[in-house]
Amino acid sequence: MVQTLEKGSVLNKESSSIVYDTQQLNLWYGTHHALKNINLQIKENEVTAIIGPSGCGKSTYIKTLNRMVELVPTVKTSGKILYRERNIFDADYGVEELRTKVGMVFQKPNPFPKSIYDNIAYGPRIHGIKNKKILDEIVEKSLRGAAIWDEVKDRLTTNAYSLSGGQQQRICIARCLAIEPDVILMDEPTSALDPISTLKVEELIQELKKEYSIIIVTHNMQQAARISDKTAFFLNGEVVEFDDTDVIFSTPADKRTEDYISGRFG
Ligand SMILES: Nc1ncnc2c1ncn2[C@@H]1O[C@H](COP(=O)(O)OP(=O)(O)OP(=O)(O)O)[C@@H](O)[C@H]1O
Ligand SMILES: [Mg+2]
Repeated sequence: MVQTLEKGSVLNKESSSIVYDTQQLNLWYGTHHALKNINLQIKENEVTAIIGPSGCGKSTYIKTLNRMVELVPTVKTSGKILYRERNIFDADYGVEELRTKVGMVFQKPNPFPKSIYDNIAYGPRIHGIKNKKILDEIVEKSLRGAAIWDEVKDRLTTNAYSLSGGQQQRICIARCLAIEPDVILMDEPTSALDPISTLKVEELIQELKKEYSIIIVTHNMQQAARISDKTAFFLNGEVVEFDDTDVIFSTPADKRTEDYISGRFG
């Protein structure tokens, strides 16, 4: 028999590349059971798409990954979310530390009412960086990383509100990169954008996955198919199916996945 795999090598690589390991996660808003027994593994340097009809728990799930959901006073959870092998629900887990590792981009671009420069320098300044030269470097690197440097380099002192929606969204992505995160969560980041800006952000996501792990909620099936490596289909708070994006969109195992992606409901 021919031995095709080097012993252990593949397995070791697999386990070290898991960023988030969600185990038996349940979440309630008061009495409303919004997430039910979620088990999902998110891998490094991949784009994971979360799809599913409105109200199925997509935003709740990604807001649980950075514990933002805890801002809702009625929220209760059970189960575990291991981030880099540590349970984020542990009593001694510092939520601030988690948020420096996990950046988030929202549906509606939400720059601060400040200059482009100050938007990007905001996070690093909070972390105590005051040196102008270092801040200049971070601002340029982050704006380049978000593919918007050339468009704004000559007007860094103008208010970010003066930019177009698509540009504002890339400013928000740059703001997120400035804190040097490990993971980027995106909740329908292109749903407020025109097709050209959408394409730019999609291209950007493809670039960013070389350095970051990205989890993106989208209602756009073509987008999920174009840009993601893995896709999770959520329905009524459950993960119906989670697999390689190619499999989900060509030969889904569950009839409900097939019905959803072919537009029969949702
Ligand atoms: N702050 C909250 N308090 C109480 N219930 C909430 C809260 N936020 C969300 N829910 C409920 O939890 C369920 C999941 O909501 P969630 O926002 O995660 O859905 P979603 O899949 O992101 O939907 P959409 O595609 O419309 O954005 C819904 O039934 C919603 O009404
Ligand atoms: Mg949502």
